[in-house]
Amino acid sequence: MTKKFQSVKGFYDVLPEKQKLFRFFEDVALELLDQYGYHEIGLPIVEPTELFVDSVGSFTDIVEKEMYSWEDPLNNDRLTLRPEGTAGCVRAVIQNNLTYNGSAKLFYRGAMFRHENVQKGRQRQFHQLGVETFGIPSPAADAEQITFLDRLWKKLKLKKISLVINSIGDIDDRKAYRAKLIEYFEKNFDQLDEDARRRYKENPMRILDSKNKDMQALLNSAPNLSDFLSQDAKDHFNELQKLLLQNNVNFSVNHRLVRGLDYYNRTVFEWTTNDLGSQGTIAGGGRYDYLVESLGGNSTYACGFAIGIERIVLLLEENAQLTTFTPEIYIVNNGVGAQAFALQVAEKLRDEAFSVSVNLEGTSFKSQFKKADKSDAKICLIIGEEEVKNGIIQIKLIRENGAQTSSDVSELIHNVKKFLS
Ligand code: HAM
Repeated sequence: MTKKFQSVKGFYDVLPEKQKLFRFFEDVALELLDQYGYHEIGLPIVEPTELFVDSVGSFTDIVEKEMYSWEDPLNNDRLTLRPEGTAGCVRAVIQNNLTYNGSAKLFYRGAMFRHENVQKGRQRQFHQLGVETFGIPSPAADAEQITFLDRLWKKLKLKKISLVINSIGDIDDRKAYRAKLIEYFEKNFDQLDEDARRRYKENPMRILDSKNKDMQALLNSAPNLSDFLSQDAKDHFNELQKLLLQNNVNFSVNHRLVRGLDYYNRTVFEWTTNDLGSQGTIAGGGRYDYLVESLGGNSTYACGFAIGIERIVLLLEENAQLTTFTPEIYIVNNGVGAQAFALQVAEKLRDEAFSVSVNLEGTSFKSQFKKADKSDAKICLIIGEEEVKNGIIQIKLIRENGAQTSSDVSELIHNVKKFLS
């Protein structure tokens, strides 16, 4: 028997009904990005492995176990399918000197790859829309991004979404905190699970994110990062909160939010929903004022976020009225020359910005009418041999009273508009 291929686990086809929702999301998001003055940058899917090790961090889940990396024998390079977009964006900013003007507001979209356990809302190939602002120290840049997201959710009519923010301070704040935290975990070593025991020295803050119920009491009494923040970092965080309140963005502060990538400092934030089970984070981001310099650029303030598009699409799917794209006009046709004539008529209508679906199956009128009915189009045009000969087209309302009229081709646009109104 011939072998039938299946897509690779965690890599999915996006079928047309679903792809419409991706499009809907992108249309809304892109329009809003324009309104906020972010500019799109196209970035490669493949980057040097080291770029992610040096930015995301060697002791993160992503770098430790989730990257698709390989040795490129032709160049003797270690390469990786990007697991996220910030590192590549920073590389591009440095390589192309995009902050020559002092600042830059960029966004990118596309596929990311992480070898994670697959479940609802978690794939191995997924898509992000990422936004990054460079060169602005003020929390106004963070606030602008968060306000953008708040407006985006409203435009998409997503409900029951909440925002959590935190400040993780600057490098020195975290150094002092880290030492205290390691000391605390060492003292309570017997209460740590296996993963925490392995990581507490390299990445102690990440353990605070653990969902292990048995460790919650221990984590609740752990030293608090907010007690270690410098006055500058505290002022920055307070100012951000003020700006969010002024722009009517609701949020809560969670001092244990640290995020899973190493490049952050000061602001971190996540938007979550309870409607997606355990994979409820639909967007996350924060400030990363040290990353540009650590990847070889000039010292440059920066902040950004990424949206997980599949998770948004799952939420949109629950909102049924968005799922049905309907042609306004469906053309059934049967007989010699009718199909060719139908194509011409459809083009004329599209010139006038109508959306038109032409039945190309060459089946009986009866079966085509059934499809017209299913298409949810408002009106149906009927073209048979007679119509081709006479240059006359039948126009029929598919629902309501099913009214029908005939129109000369030259009058068609006028009559269709009349019928649709
Ligand atoms: P992240 O939190 O790793 O951040 O990913 C952002 C979003 O991508 C998540 O909130 C989630 O919605 C989605 N996502 C992540 N992994 C998966 C997966 N396996 N399947 C489906 N969706 C997923 C970043 O990637 C940072 N680069 C964000 C950023 C930009 N920070 C500053 N600038």
